[in-house]
Amino acid sequence: MNRPSTEAGDQPTAKIGIVTVSDRASRGEYEDRGGPAIHAFLADVLTSPWEAEARVVPDDGGVIERTLVELCDLGCGLIVTTGGTGPAVRDVTPEATEAVCEKLLPGFGELMREVSLEYVPTAILSRQTAGVRGSSLIVNLPGKPKAIAECLDAVFPAIPYCIDLINGPYLETDGDRVVAFRPK
Ligand code: MTE
Repeated sequence: MNRPSTEAGDQPTAKIGIVTVSDRASRGEYEDRGGPAIHAFLADVLTSPWEAEARVVPDDGGVIERTLVELCDLGCGLIVTTGGTGPAVRDVTPEATEAVCEKLLPGFGELMREVSLEYVPTAILSRQTAGVRGSSLIVNLPGKPKAIAECLDAVFPAIPYCIDLINGPYLETDGDRVVAFRPK
């Protein structure tokens, strides 16, 4: 569950965007399990106050781009997408991410693919990437719900500092779960 800001004194509540990209989930033909898995990961790891802005959208580049821009404009310091990163015709999440970002952070995709290979040989099929738009960090994850923790465990230690560098909200983590690395 999101922690109410009152529990953490005056610390502002960080907004985090969760975007499920799936034609079938957006049509209601398929239960969205990716978005809730991202929410559960964040609830487990973050100790500073935060609230989710969740969206479920089809594999349509224009819709994905508009959703990402809307979430950036709402002040989301972090936006995590799930789905649409593979090689299929309708998989366009990385292109939409690249289209709205001012800077790309290819190290996120490189590390997530590397760790994912320990779980599935098809990890190399994901074109997942990350980038920055204004004060928002956007990170793509594959659509498989189990891929979410597999990938976020690997990259989350670098996420709070990245968001510091782009003047986003200060995120704190449970050190027993994920140690947020902030260079002195
Ligand atoms: N990465 C992890 N950690 N776990 C997975 O199960 N699935 C792979 C890959 N990366 C997977 C993974 C598969 S099968 C595909 S096709 C690609 O992600 C792209 O998935 P997407 O199109 O749902 O984003």
